[in-house]
Amino acid sequence: MSATALSHSSLKADIAGLLEEARARTLLLVRHLSDEDLHRQHDPLMSPVIWDLGHIAHFEELWLTQNLDGPIEFSEMPGMYNPFEHPRATRAALPIPPIMEMLNRLADIRETVLERLDRIEFDETSALLAGGYVYHMVLQHEYQHNETILQTLQLKRGEPYRPPRIESAPDTASMLAASDMVSIPSGRYTLGTTDTSEAYDNERPLHEVELAAFSIDRTPVTNEQYLDFISNGGYEDRRFWSDAGLAWLKESKAIAPKHWRHTGDGWTTRSMDRTGPVDPLRPVIHVCFHEAQAFANWAGKRLPSETEWEVAASWDPVATLARKYPWGATITPDDANVDQLRFDTVQVDTFAGNVSPFGCYGMIGDVWEWTSSDFSGYPGFVSFPYPEYSEDFFGSDYKVLRGGSWATRTGAIRNTFRNWDYPIRRQIFSGFRCARSD
Ligand code: AVJ
Ligand code: FE
Repeated sequence: MSATALSHSSLKADIAGLLEEARARTLLLVRHLSDEDLHRQHDPLMSPVIWDLGHIAHFEELWLTQNLDGPIEFSEMPGMYNPFEHPRATRAALPIPPIMEMLNRLADIRETVLERLDRIEFDETSALLAGGYVYHMVLQHEYQHNETILQTLQLKRGEPYRPPRIESAPDTASMLAASDMVSIPSGRYTLGTTDTSEAYDNERPLHEVELAAFSIDRTPVTNEQYLDFISNGGYEDRRFWSDAGLAWLKESKAIAPKHWRHTGDGWTTRSMDRTGPVDPLRPVIHVCFHEAQAFANWAGKRLPSETEWEVAASWDPVATLARKYPWGATITPDDANVDQLRFDTVQVDTFAGNVSPFGCYGMIGDVWEWTSSDFSGYPGFVSFPYPEYSEDFFGSDYKVLRGGSWATRTGAIRNTFRNWDYPIRRQIFSGFRCARSD
C-alpha cells in the first residue's frame, strides 16, 4: 500500500470508530425516555427529542450517501426533518415514528454509510472528502444536536430528566480572585484557522487582526458576582440595560437567571434532576445576552468582542502562534468541564490546567460565553459546503458565543469554534466573562 492509501485506511478506521462512539452517546442520553416523552413538545423553543433523532439520521444519510456521489442536490433533507420547513414549535404535530422504528432507521442508514465509507476514496482534490471533512461535519452535527437535546431535557415537563451522570471529583474551593483581570497588550494577532478537515466555513479564513490593549476577566462571571448584581438592584436599574434589553426584561419579567428560585433562605437552582443552593463559586449559567450586557455595565466593564475572546483563549505570546485549545493541541474530558456527563457546571478553578497562555481560566467548558459580536463572515469568507449552516445566519440578529459548555462534546469545541444565538435566549448553557479597554 502507498503511504496515502495507508493513511486513508487509518482515517477510515478512525471515522468508523468516531461514528460509532457518537451514536452510542446519543442513545445513552435518550435511553430511559418513554415514547411519550420523546414525542412531547416540552417547550415551544425546542423540538421534541424524537425529531432531533430523525434529523440526525437523515442529515447523515444526505451527506454521507446521497451528496457524496454527485453534485450537492440538497443542503438539508426534504421532508419532516428539514429544520427550515418546520419551525421547532410545530414539530410535535409531524407524524414522526415511534422510537423502535426510529432506532431501526438510524441503524439502517448507518449500515449504508459504513458500506459507503468502506468503498470511499479520500480524494484530496475533493473539498468534501479531503481529510475526511464531510464525515467530521456529520459527526459534529450529531454532537451539536446532543447539546440541543440536553437543552430540551433541562426543560422537560413532568418528572425531571434522570441523566446518566458520572460523579465528578469534588469541586475545589476557588483560589482565584473573582474580580481579577488579565491584560492583553495591543498588537497583531491571528483569528480563525486554515484547517479544512474539520473546521466550519465560518472559522476560516485565518486572518490577522489589530487589537488595542484590553483586559479580560480571568474566569467566567461567578454566581457570587452575579448575586451582587441582583442584590444591588441590577434588574431594576434601567441605566444598565439597552433598549432591546429593557424590552426583553419587560416581556420576560426576569429577576434572576433561568431556573433560579428564591426561597426562604436564598436562591436555589436546578440542573436536570438536581436542585440545590446556588453555588457562589460556579459560573453563572442560563443568562441571555441582555443580562450579560447589563451585568457588564453595572460592573463598569463591557463584554469582550469575539476577537478579544479568541486571542485571550488561544494566543501564545512566546511561540507567537494561536493554540487550538487554551492549554495545547488536544482535548480530552479531563482537560475541562466538557462532554456532558457531569450534567452541571463546576467551580471555576476545578480544572487547574484549563488556562490559556495569557492566564484566562475556563475559556473552554462549563458555559458558552456571550460576546459583543454579531455573527458574520470573516474577511474573504466562502460558504462551504452549504449556506444553511453559517451564512444564512449572518447579520445583526445573532450574537456569537464562544468556548462550549458542560454539554458540549469535545469534538465540537476548539478556540476557533463560533456558536450563535438570539440575544434573548437563555435556555442554552450560556454565561459570560467581562472585558475592559485599557
Ligand atoms: C451552531 C448551535 C447554532 O443548532 O442551530 C445543528 C448547529 N446546525 N444543525 C444550531 C446546527 C445545523 C447550530 N448552532
Ligand atoms: Fe441540524
